[in-house]
Amino acid sequence: MDLLRVFGGARLAGDVDVVGAKNSALKLMAVTLLAPGRSVITNVPRITDIAIMAEVLRRLGCEVTSEGDRIEIDVPDECGTEADYDLVRRLRASICVLGPLLARRGHVRVAHPGGDAIGSRGLDMHVAGLRRMGADITSEHGFVIATVSERLHGATVWLDFPSVGATENLLMAAVLAKGTTEIDNAAREPEIVDICEMLTAMGAKIGGAGTSQLIVEGVDALRPVEHRTVGDRIVAGTWAFAAAMTRGEVTVHGVPVAHLEIALDKLVTAGAEVDPVGDGFRVRMGRRPTAVDIVTLPFPGFPTDLLPMAVGLAAVSEGASLITENIFDGRFMFIQELVRLGAEIRTDGHHAVVRGRERLSGAPVSATDIRAGAGLAVAALCGDGVTEVSHVHHIDRGYPTFAADLTGLGAHVERVQAPAEPVFGL
Ligand code: EPU
Repeated sequence: MDLLRVFGGARLAGDVDVVGAKNSALKLMAVTLLAPGRSVITNVPRITDIAIMAEVLRRLGCEVTSEGDRIEIDVPDECGTEADYDLVRRLRASICVLGPLLARRGHVRVAHPGGDAIGSRGLDMHVAGLRRMGADITSEHGFVIATVSERLHGATVWLDFPSVGATENLLMAAVLAKGTTEIDNAAREPEIVDICEMLTAMGAKIGGAGTSQLIVEGVDALRPVEHRTVGDRIVAGTWAFAAAMTRGEVTVHGVPVAHLEIALDKLVTAGAEVDPVGDGFRVRMGRRPTAVDIVTLPFPGFPTDLLPMAVGLAAVSEGASLITENIFDGRFMFIQELVRLGAEIRTDGHHAVVRGRERLSGAPVSATDIRAGAGLAVAALCGDGVTEVSHVHHIDRGYPTFAADLTGLGAHVERVQAPAEPVFGL
């Protein structure tokens, strides 16, 4: 296993290109299941999660090939109906094949993904919504099994919470259902809009994309298309926070300001200058950041996936910040690692009080999930000495060129093989 060695005291400067969003591309791959034939998705990040999703589709009978940032998926007339635990446990997002397979094949068996390092992550809203549309759903031997006697029908579904995954599954089921489906309190993330745009190009009839009410008029069939993935706002936001934390100047290409409005506004409150430029934005910070309070919420609120960067910023800011996490119950797990870097943080439930320090201090830390890993590596840039971030494969899952991008921005980082763990015996 590799670890990332980060040398503290960096000031990030320069330009960085951001590719397509993992959390969109994975779902766009599932969208292709809705239409037999050859669909093409471009601007796809080259990361393990995409390779796992490709394998999920292959086992459903699809032919999947890729070159550079382009993936071609040839979907058979009669695709398979099962996603096994050996893949679903490695890629929770594979649950997004539930909606499209149910809509096309009338029955599906997907392994229950279980929880993960950032929280318990339920499926109740996916299940309740599909039941409203006529599906019969049971859970047996670790599988979610869904069947529908004839065809899914339109329904009004009110989500208790604007869940990204539930909105996507219901949307992908509704486009081929008989009649009109209304999804209220729907998620509004740019990745949802991206899916709506691809579905619309395939012939789906969707109103309200980007609002909390989606109206879907079901059609009999969809056609394959070519679609470009929306830029990754979380990767872009990571570089924006890294620029502010290291008092640098970074221009981020590939993601518009509109996809990160609140996050960038927090950086402005902390003392940064943020300007839109061409296909992205520039962040410039000339002094130590001022502490700001941050609350995570569904889009357009502050993204939970930037929570580790928010805590990192607070850890080096002047003053105390109150950071509140509202989406995932395990998101604060990484905080004990940040404390190892000298951060002064106290948590109480889903609140964290962070007292900023002028400088952190390099130490070995462990990445617990994608965003925590990236957040720790960025915080390490603000430390004295060297930090070794282990379990760097977590970072690889969300950031295709993390170390190279940091190097390109002037940081000193090295990716090295972790020494083997000693085995102790009695
Ligand atoms: N929830 C339920 N029941 C449901 C659905 C969700 O209780 O039926 C709860 C979850 O347990 C969680 C909250 O609602 O506490 C939010 O879940 P949501 O469904 O919105 O998130 P998700 O679809 O599981 C996606 C991203 C996450 C991102 C969240 C929020 C993918 C593959 N994952 O997860 O990304 O944090 O939306 O924006 O799209 C990441 O990329 O590192 C990551 C975790």
